[in-house]
Amino acid sequence: MKMTWMLASAATIALAAPIAQAAAPNPLAWQNKALSADARANLLVRAMTLDEKLLVVTSYYGTQVDWNKYRDPLARRQSAGFVPGVPRLGWTPQWQTDAGSGVATQGVAAPDLQRTALPAGILTASTWNPDMAVRGGAMIGSEARASGFNTMLAGGVDLLREPGNGRNFEYGGEDPLLAGTMVGAIVRGIQSNQMITTVKHYAFNDQETKRTTVNILIDEPSARMSDLLAFQIAIEQGNPGSIMCSYNLVNGEWACQNDWLLNKVLKRDWGYKGFVMSDWGAMHDTVKNALNGLDQEAGVQNPKDYVWKDKLKTAIQDGRVPERVLDDKVRRIARALIASGAVDNPPTPDNPIDFAAHEAVSQADAEEGIVLLKNDDHVLPLAGAAKKIAIVGGHADVGVLTGGGSAQVYPRGGSPVSGEGPAHWPGPHVYAPSSPMKALQAERPDASISFASGRDLDQAAAAAKDADVAIVFVTQWTAEGMDFPLTLPDNQDALIDAVARANPNTIVVLETGGPVLMPWIDRVKGAVEAWYPGSKGGEAIARVLTGKVNPSGHLPATFAYAAADWPRASIAGADKGEHEVFDVRFSEGAAVGYKWFDKNHIKPLFPFGHGLSYTRFTQGGLKAAARRGTISASFSVRNAGSVAGKQVAQIYVSPVAGGWESPKRLGGFAKLDLQPGQSKTASVTIDPRLLGMWDKAHPGWRIAAGKYRVTLATSATDPGQSVIVSLTASHLPAGRGVAK
Ligand code: BGC
Repeated sequence: MKMTWMLASAATIALAAPIAQAAAPNPLAWQNKALSADARANLLVRAMTLDEKLLVVTSYYGTQVDWNKYRDPLARRQSAGFVPGVPRLGWTPQWQTDAGSGVATQGVAAPDLQRTALPAGILTASTWNPDMAVRGGAMIGSEARASGFNTMLAGGVDLLREPGNGRNFEYGGEDPLLAGTMVGAIVRGIQSNQMITTVKHYAFNDQETKRTTVNILIDEPSARMSDLLAFQIAIEQGNPGSIMCSYNLVNGEWACQNDWLLNKVLKRDWGYKGFVMSDWGAMHDTVKNALNGLDQEAGVQNPKDYVWKDKLKTAIQDGRVPERVLDDKVRRIARALIASGAVDNPPTPDNPIDFAAHEAVSQADAEEGIVLLKNDDHVLPLAGAAKKIAIVGGHADVGVLTGGGSAQVYPRGGSPVSGEGPAHWPGPHVYAPSSPMKALQAERPDASISFASGRDLDQAAAAAKDADVAIVFVTQWTAEGMDFPLTLPDNQDALIDAVARANPNTIVVLETGGPVLMPWIDRVKGAVEAWYPGSKGGEAIARVLTGKVNPSGHLPATFAYAAADWPRASIAGADKGEHEVFDVRFSEGAAVGYKWFDKNHIKPLFPFGHGLSYTRFTQGGLKAAARRGTISASFSVRNAGSVAGKQVAQIYVSPVAGGWESPKRLGGFAKLDLQPGQSKTASVTIDPRLLGMWDKAHPGWRIAAGKYRVTLATSATDPGQSVIVSLTASHLPAGRGVAK
C-alpha cells in the first residue's frame, strides 16, 4: 500500500524522545515544534539518507501537458512543479504553482482550476501602494493554499529595460526602489498564508527572445545599482523562502551556475538564507550548479529521466561534490518551508474559495493601479451629458485581456474569447469575463451604449460619429517566451485614427503588458492605461471612466515617443541559432528607464511616475535633513479640488556636483488619500544605497560628501520643489539589508 507523506504525524512527535545528543538521533526529532526552524532543518538533514536528500532537491512537472505525458499521482492539479516528500520522516512534498497574478493554469487545454486573476504585476506596481500589494498577494496566496499548494512561483522583479519584453506585465517596472518595494509587498502577502514564494528570475532576464542563450554583459557597479538592487530590496521586504535563477547567462556564465550571482552576491553579501530553485530546465552542468549555489533543480519532465539528482549522486560518490554541499541545499529548503508554517500546517487541495471576496480585492487593486494618462478638456469622467457612448474594439463587450505563459490565470467563468493568439503555450489569448461595456451600462443606465468590434474601420467610425463620446479599447497581448514590437498589433493605431477623425471626444483605453507607442495621442482627448486589470477589470475600468473611482495609478515605467528613444531600439537574438550563445551588452548600465531618458535629454511621451486625477493636488513645505548618514524629507500634500483622491508624492535625489549614472534617482514615495480641501504631511527616509555608488574596490556603497538636491515631484519630469542637503562621506557594506 502506498504510504503518504503524512505517515509520521505531529501527534507521534509529541511523544518522541528528547533529541539525542549522540550519534543516532530520533529520525522524527525534527518535528518538534518547540525548536527553531534552523534546528529542525538540521535534525531533518541528519536523519536523511543520501537518496532522501537527493529527492528534496528535484522538482518534477506536476501537470500533464501536451509536451509532458508524465504526472506524479501525488502532484496536485495543474501544478507547475512537484517535489516528492519523504514519508519515512513525515517530510512534506512541495506542491508548486505559478505565479504573480494567482494560481495559474500551465496551458492545459481545458483548465479545470479557474481562479481569481489579480491584475498584472505591472498594474500592482502602478498603485505605488505597498499595502494594496500585500492585500493582493495575500489573496492569491490564499487561493494557492486552498488549492493545495505550499509554494508559489510569484515575485517577478526583473527591471523593465526592454519595453518589448513579453514578461514586463509580470514585473514591477523600471525602478529598483519601486519594483523592489512593490514586489516585496506582494511576496509578504503571499507568504502570510503559511507558504513560501520565489522571487524571480535572478537575474537580468530582461528579454525573452532566446532567453536560454542570451549572455547579458554588465559591469558590476551597474549591476549592483539596478536589477540586483531591485532583487535585494524585494528580498529584504518580502523575505521569500526561495529565489528562482534565470535561463540566461550573465557575464559569460549561466545564471543557475553563476558563482558570482548565487554564492557571492545572494548568499554571501546579502546573507540570504532561503534556497535557490532553477527556472524550469535552466541547469547546464551538474557540478557547477551544485558548487556555484543552485539548491533545487526544477522542470524535470519525468522521474525516469536521468536527471540532476542522479548526476549529483555520482558526483558526490566520486568526490567532485562534497556531501555537505548537498546538506546545505536540503537544510535551506527545509528551513524555508518549516519557517513559513507550510510544514506544520500542510495545505490540502479542493477547499472552497470565497470568489466574491477575492474578486473584490482584485477589483480594488485594478481601481488603484489604472493610470489616467491624458484628460484634455476634462473629457473624463464621462459627463452626464454624454448620453450616447460608442464603444469600439478590444472585445470590450465581453471581457478584459490577461497575459500569457506560465503566469496565465484562467479566471472564474472562463474566457469569453477563444481561438485568438497561439493555439499552444504561451497562448491562447485569455480574457477575464468582465465586460467594460456591460459594467459601464450598469453604471450609466441612462446612456445608450453601442459596440463595434473595430475590425471594420468604417463601421467603427460611423458608430463614433453618431455618439457624444467614443471609447476605443485597444489590446496588446504579451506573454512569456516572446517579445513584442512597441506598435499596437492588428491595425489598432489606424482604428484609433479613424474613430478620432469621426468624433472629437475620443478616449482610448489600453490593455497592454508594458509601454507602447501612441502615434495618435495628439488626436484623442483622453487615454487610460488599464494594463491587464484582472478578474474584475471591466468593472474597475467602468468605475474609473465614470468617476466612481478617482484614478490614482502612476506609471512604473517610461512611455516613449519612438522605439529609438530606448537604449536598444529592438530586442536582439531573433536571428540567432537555437543553441547559439550571443552577447547583449547593457551599455546603459544602471541608467534604466527614466534615468536613461534624463541623462540623454530625451523627452518621454509619458514619464515614469506620471498619473492624472479628477482632482487637483498641491504639494509643498518640503524639508530635508541629513540624519544618521542618510536623508529624511517631509512635505505636505493638499487636495485643492472638489473630489476625494489619492496622490503619489515622489522624492527624487541627485548630487549637485553630478557623478551618478543618471541625473537623479527615485529616493522615496508616499501615497496619500485626501478628501477635498484636506492636507496631510508625510515623510520619507531615503535608503542610503540610493545615495551612493557601488564601490568595487571596497565592496559596498560609497556615499560621497557634498550637496544633494532633494526634489518633491509628481513624476520624473516634474521640476517640483527642491531643497539642498549636505552629507558627509560614508561607506555601507554590501549586505546592508537585513538577512532573514
Ligand atoms: C518560467 C517560470 C515559471 C516556470 C514554471 C518557466 O518557463 O520562466 O517563471 O515559474 O516555467 O512554470
